[in-house]
Amino acid sequence: MIQFTKEQRFIVTGASSGIGEAVALRLNELGASVIAIARNEERLLGMKTKSKHPENIYIEIKDLAENIEQLPSYVKELKDKYGKFQGLANCAGVGRILPLKSIDFTEMQKLFNINYFSPVFMTKGFTDKRNNNGKGSSVVCIASSGGVHCDPGMTEYAGSKGALIATMQAIARELAPSYIRVNCVSPSLISTNMADEISRSFAEGKYPMGIGKPQYVANTVVFLLSKQAEWITAQNYIIDCGAI
Ligand SMILES: NC(=O)c1ccc[n+]([C@@H]2O[C@H](COP(=O)([O-])OP(=O)(O)OC[C@H]3O[C@@H](n4cnc5c(N)ncnc54)[C@H](OP(=O)(O)O)[C@@H]3O)[C@@H](O)[C@H]2O)c1
Repeated sequence: MIQFTKEQRFIVTGASSGIGEAVALRLNELGASVIAIARNEERLLGMKTKSKHPENIYIEIKDLAENIEQLPSYVKELKDKYGKFQGLANCAGVGRILPLKSIDFTEMQKLFNINYFSPVFMTKGFTDKRNNNGKGSSVVCIASSGGVHCDPGMTEYAGSKGALIATMQAIARELAPSYIRVNCVSPSLISTNMADEISRSFAEGKYPMGIGKPQYVANTVVFLLSKQAEWITAQNYIIDCGAI
């Protein structure tokens, strides 16, 4: 059984909603301390009120798509405030379905900022040995099944997630000699605010066990962040109910 102590601190981005919220709540339920990051304070506080051990949830309001080059310094500031980290779950992200003829360079860059550059630079900060617990520390990024099997209209989104999967594999292999593990989890349609935006019409009849729940993804993320996954790195786990 997976268990953590409150001295094991995890950064969870996108913890105000959906998958990030589920990851934060599950880590907390299993005994860990969570530094929960997002822009919306009200929703972060809502997540905290749902938690089993609210005293071990620490809220940080931050737009992770701004000043991306400063994110490694931001992680160090968090370390100075809370102590070294055991893990990082990069869950913040946005979705968009748009035909190629409608894409706009500036808007596409904004999507890449939060879906790709932000997790890469948060990972750079976390993997600085001054900021993590060393051997056994772990990073998990929420990518997407769309980063591997791309549907029409996913020019921007699939590009950002495919790039994230490839980059995290490279980082994982670079860091394996330090026993720091890096993996991706790639869900298909999960019932969150984002899925509502993306349109559930894609999903009609596609998922024999129904649309996914954030908890399904959170269980895999928490396993990968735990000691139970100690020989697992550079992988991308697709969670899609066998749909693709
Ligand atoms: N739902 C799905 O079907 C699905 C499928 C595959 C992959 N994913 C991936 O799963 C991850 C989580 O998505 P979700 O479905 O849980 O969506 P969600 O419920 O909309 O949650 C997105 C989270 O990202 C945070 N966020 C967005 N922009 C941010 C920014 N600039 N700075 C800081 N935080 C930001 C949001 O917080 P604030 O708004 O409070 O800042 C929110 O907590 C994303 O990376 C998404 O691409 C989702």
